[in-house]
Amino acid sequence: MHNADRFPFIPGQPPLTVVDAQGNHLITHDGRRILDGAGGAAVNNIGYGRPEIAEAATSALHGYVVPVFATPSRVRLVERLVDRWLPPGLTRALFVGGGSESVDTAMRIVRQYHLAKGHPDKWRVVGRNISYHGATLASLAVANHDRRRAPFGPLLLDLPKVDVYDADQVIKTIEAEDPATIGGLILEPVIGASGAAIVAPDDYWPKLRAFCSEHDILLIADEVMSGVGRTGRKFGVDHWSITPDLLVGSKGLAGGYAAIGAVFATDAVVAPLVDTNVMHFTFSGNGLACAIADRTLQILEDEDLVARAGIMGSRLRAALDERLADHPNVADVRGLGLLLGVELVKDRSTGASFDGSLTPLVVEEALARDCWIYPAGSGPVPDALLFGPGFTITEEEIDQLADVTLDSIDAALTRVR
Ligand SMILES: Cc1ncc(COP(=O)(O)O)c(C=O)c1O
Repeated sequence: MHNADRFPFIPGQPPLTVVDAQGNHLITHDGRRILDGAGGAAVNNIGYGRPEIAEAATSALHGYVVPVFATPSRVRLVERLVDRWLPPGLTRALFVGGGSESVDTAMRIVRQYHLAKGHPDKWRVVGRNISYHGATLASLAVANHDRRRAPFGPLLLDLPKVDVYDADQVIKTIEAEDPATIGGLILEPVIGASGAAIVAPDDYWPKLRAFCSEHDILLIADEVMSGVGRTGRKFGVDHWSITPDLLVGSKGLAGGYAAIGAVFATDAVVAPLVDTNVMHFTFSGNGLACAIADRTLQILEDEDLVARAGIMGSRLRAALDERLADHPNVADVRGLGLLLGVELVKDRSTGASFDGSLTPLVVEEALARDCWIYPAGSGPVPDALLFGPGFTITEEEIDQLADVTLDSIDAALTRVR
């Protein structure tokens, strides 16, 4: 199979056809081996083509069970996550189909929680400038990734946005909006697609944790990208030792082998909900996805891959720094663990930008050199590259990725000029 002409929804150039995946490589129909420097979209963690996952899939329950019933794989997954993975205090789990669904569900829970507590006006969920939380209408509304949300304006609720770097500024904005109308605050521990691995200062999360508790604002950590070991800790918030009220996860949860997302909550969040009904999707807690997620987490544990993400993240960071730190068109190399970003500019001394025109060319050049790098950026960060490879990445692969990144930036710069 290599004629993908009829595949694209919108007619155009047929895309690259990937027929297999092994380790950190995608194999194309014509036999090219593409080094996946982004883990797809920060999804791959245990490496592609693992036979243990195929075995887990084969022995998973064969059939459909509505989400309200327990199954052994659902129960096992909740127990593993709560006992071994989640920040202390997150004891409840609800499984959904992906990242956007997990964000929407968390926003519904915020609404139901405050309604149940007798505060119907406390429903607005605050997001950040800049951020990305998904492609459903609620997750687009609560985020600000300008290019992704631009066409949908009239369909999106107008929700307040706060600052990325300064906790005091966030608090001022929420106070000006009136905390009595604010039900939740959603933040990515490491800002992924919109900002290419922006990390807030160390006092940010602890200050906002305290402020949210004071005003009964549910703090939601969006760990869809940063969770499940990607930053070198089990979850991104572990870097600041805080427990959010709600934590949403997806991508790495099943290593990319199955579609799954999750919402995790504290006992205090679910207590007021006892007489309500949190809506499920038909495929919430899908049996195959739960079995694969459980096996993925077991592999991450058995092979100590979270620690490896930290170690290989430092190596990749050093390799990128070595080649790019003094590059005239690189404004910053940043991130945590194996969630790293490179911000590109027209002129480093003035900060002038290419307005988003450089990134697609760099990605194209990298693909021509057999590497996949994720195009990131929005708003004040119009051009950026995001790296999120599997935790099994080797030193040789890291050097190749860093070399190709430098060559691709230079080749793209030649074209744009
Ligand atoms: C932080 C974050 N939240 C939510 C999402 C949405 O996840 P999905 O694409 O699985 O719906 C993404 C996807 O990139 C993400 O990075």
